[in-house]
Amino acid sequence: MKHSTFFKNKVIIVTGATSGIGENLALRFSYLGAKVVLAARNKARLTALKNHINSIGKEAIAVKTDISIEKEVINLINRTQDKWERIDFLISNAGQYIQGYMDDINAEAFRESFEVNFYGSLYAVKHIIPIMFHQKSGHIVFINTLDSKKGIVGDGPYVAAKSALNGFADVLRQEVKETGIKVLTVYPGRVDTPMIQDIHVPWISPKMSVEKVVNAVIKGILKNKPIVVIPKSLYFLGALNNIFPRVMDWIYKKFRLEGNKINN
Ligand SMILES: NC(=O)c1ccc[n+]([C@@H]2O[C@H](COP(=O)([O-])OP(=O)(O)OC[C@H]3O[C@@H](n4cnc5c(N)ncnc54)[C@H](OP(=O)(O)O)[C@@H]3O)[C@@H](O)[C@H]2O)c1
Repeated sequence: MKHSTFFKNKVIIVTGATSGIGENLALRFSYLGAKVVLAARNKARLTALKNHINSIGKEAIAVKTDISIEKEVINLINRTQDKWERIDFLISNAGQYIQGYMDDINAEAFRESFEVNFYGSLYAVKHIIPIMFHQKSGHIVFINTLDSKKGIVGDGPYVAAKSALNGFADVLRQEVKETGIKVLTVYPGRVDTPMIQDIHVPWISPKMSVEKVVNAVIKGILKNKPIVVIPKSLYFLGALNNIFPRVMDWIYKKFRLEGNKINN
């Protein structure tokens, strides 16, 4: 089916819709005629985006939500149901890049990372799945990261939570297979968004444009893919790390894949 009709009138919740990948996905879905539910914590940015979408004649609502708080996620889902009485897509995108080294493990940083990067998605799925079961249809899209296929030094809290999410999505996809619900996990490499704006990355792993990620997500949905890796050239990263972990460690160290902090 073509882009232009597939998303028309579909009800799509996008978490993390105030910036980067989420904001651009929400805009693209709106252009394609979807009814978009914008969720994030920054009310002013949510309202500005909603007003922009409405100003181009498209439908959107904004629901201020901290996805790490289950009752706020329940409110997000209730508001969507009250307005449009169904949920066709959950784009579970909201996330935070929480770093920390292992020589001084900060359990609080791990907890914080799990709350947003893992439990935020878990709460949304937990409360949306019954609705999708009832509809006998629905599509859940997780925006994960290539870092969950091969960890980067200094990123322990982020990588651990995204790896947990990876496992959750893998089991979920298999368990809902016969119910009409589809599950896609997207693994982008570095993306040019505010999340990593203060990191200068090495030439071997350049920041890709948000548009590239948006296009890959749309294509992955249309083709009902279980996973999408961007860029495609890194499709075998996880397998390579399983077979040659020390070689991969060496490559990551040699090319300083963790990048350098830009000091302003
Ligand atoms: N940028 C990259 O290189 C990269 C690479 C691979 C994967 N990813 C993943 O892509 C996703 C989007 O990242 P991005 O690069 O677009 O980052 P971004 O520009 O920093 O946007 C993150 C979004 O998440 C929202 N958010 C953060 N904490 C939240 C919370 N507790 N509740 C609700 N919303 C929350 C933020 O909005 P508020 O502050 O308004 O809440 C914002 O809209 C993340 O899951 C990230 O891990 C990013």
